[in-house]
Amino acid sequence: MTTTFDVDTFVAECEAALRESQPALAVKEVLAQAIANPSDIDRALGDAAKWEMRSMCRSSALTVLQFVWPPGVELFPHDHRMWAAIGVYGGGEDNTFFRRVPEGLAVSGGKQLRAGDVTLFGDDVIHAVANPSRAYTAAIHVYGGDYFGTHRSQWDPTTLREEPFDAEAVRRVLDDADRGAHHNTGL
Ligand SMILES: [Fe+2]
Repeated sequence: MTTTFDVDTFVAECEAALRESQPALAVKEVLAQAIANPSDIDRALGDAAKWEMRSMCRSSALTVLQFVWPPGVELFPHDHRMWAAIGVYGGGEDNTFFRRVPEGLAVSGGKQLRAGDVTLFGDDVIHAVANPSRAYTAAIHVYGGDYFGTHRSQWDPTTLREEPFDAEAVRRVLDDADRGAHHNTGL
């Protein structure tokens, strides 16, 4: 069977899933089908050799992103304040979950996602994400809202103090990890 990944078709399927009785679960199913064919996604989106946060859709009800994480990156704790469906199609994402405590945050669990895994996060999740491998990792993240337009929080990785989410801080972490990756591989 020949399959293809097409951004417009995928986004349309996600938008249709939002009209189901359980939108997050329906989106998770759409995402699971898409990441079952990772080479199709690579053909459509390219096989990135630097970090990437590519927006495929942004509306008040839906944000669809391709994330490519550099080797060794560790992103500080943050929240989303909307449900998220995460589908990994290359490499892995190690999640650490946190809960609020009077002093800031306490670790409440973890989840390792590897290529082919899809998971749902509720709208109250606080997590930190790391790529533990020596290769770039690739995923599609679907959020049940406007990921870029929603006020949310991040936490200092050392003090665990809550701060307003700062997209530039994310870029700095990813840029640093990119530089480290290219240094280590001689690129
Ligand atoms: Fe996140």
